[in-house]
Amino acid sequence: MSIVWESRYALRMKGITSSTIRELLKLTQRPEIISFAGGLPAAEYFPIERFKEACSRVLAQSGRQALQYATTEGYPPLRELIAARLCASGVCVDADNVLVTSGSQQALSLIGALLINPGDRVLIEEPTYLGALQAFALYQASYIGVPLDNDGIRTDLLPQALLHGPKFMYILPNFQNPAGVTLSQARRRELVDISHQTGVPIVEDDPYGELRFEGEPARPIVSIDAEALGLGSTAYSGNVIELGTFSKTLAPGLRVAWIIAPKEVIGRLVQIKQGTDLHSSIFTQMVVYEVAKDGFLDEHIAQLREVYRKRRDAMLAALDRHMPAGVEWTQPTGGLFLWLKFPEGTPITELFQAAVQRDVAFVPGQSFFTRPDCPPTARLNFSCMDEERIAEGIHRLAIAVSEMLPTAQPVPGA
Ligand SMILES: Cc1ncc(COP(=O)(O)O)c(C=O)c1O
Repeated sequence: MSIVWESRYALRMKGITSSTIRELLKLTQRPEIISFAGGLPAAEYFPIERFKEACSRVLAQSGRQALQYATTEGYPPLRELIAARLCASGVCVDADNVLVTSGSQQALSLIGALLINPGDRVLIEEPTYLGALQAFALYQASYIGVPLDNDGIRTDLLPQALLHGPKFMYILPNFQNPAGVTLSQARRRELVDISHQTGVPIVEDDPYGELRFEGEPARPIVSIDAEALGLGSTAYSGNVIELGTFSKTLAPGLRVAWIIAPKEVIGRLVQIKQGTDLHSSIFTQMVVYEVAKDGFLDEHIAQLREVYRKRRDAMLAALDRHMPAGVEWTQPTGGLFLWLKFPEGTPITELFQAAVQRDVAFVPGQSFFTRPDCPPTARLNFSCMDEERIAEGIHRLAIAVSEMLPTAQPVPGA
């Protein structure tokens, strides 16, 4: 008798479907396609030589430790390094406040397991990071979406949204994925005040904050929180859980990231992580530590900022040059993404198909919304190809858009 697996699936799998967008994106794998759809860092800048040396050093000096089981919390020198870097950005935590995870994606999943009962609500930005929606969906979360504008989440709408009683607020403060916007300083403070008034905690997910192209770094929410409580500007209050990752500053294939949380919360997360994967690869953590220490990481990040800034500029210039009137876009000051808004009524799936026929791809915006009536939007990634290809891709996209929008003027040179 053959097993009918579906009848054995857990109830939680009911809400899990593969997204139509992912199916559509399979169309973008052809090599001739200029794809702005992914979220990939520039592979040609991965510090491969540095990693080769670090792997050899770790194996030569501490091979037995590197290949043995290890503690769930993470490699102590790496936890120290993460704590010290956070301290330099304004919040002083102990290494014991750091849990090393297998990517921030695992951090989101562990947080879901810790905080979300079936039917619990999570307050999210709309649009928000698709991977977080997927991670929380496994715990049967429902969502309260609060719109974004160019200054980040609309804090004026939060008091009303919080009446629905979310477990926590999931906030992407810097160069947001997908919209590319940054939460203003004033709104960070409002957000923290609202969190204090209502007792609803904030989960601050910040994979992109270090990839800033211009201006001063915005203060992390976790640091504003301590100051608002009168604890001093560098203390850690324990009210905000913060997530960070080496995926965008070193390489995503490492799967090394971290959670900052109060020690008691770290203890509970450790229990969940033990049941999940025992620990993140100790070998990789040791290698990351070797690569990141002695100032190399900061030098490397400085280089990435330059490269990505030029690519962002190339995309903005090409959009200015080619995109027909009526299309708007954000002006990210860091990160990997830019967000396009098309005139109301633009058929976004048809536009995606027309673009793919012209060998250019983007992610249709509806993937990042939880509500069905979202506006016609698109996420474009600018980090993973050179300026010339970006300009060519935007030109092709603009032609597809012009053909789709009845009122658009033809694109020059098309
Ligand atoms: C906002 C956000 N959070 C988390 C992640 C996951 O990152 P990681 O590679 O560390 O799992 C991403 C990846 O793109 C992201 O954009």
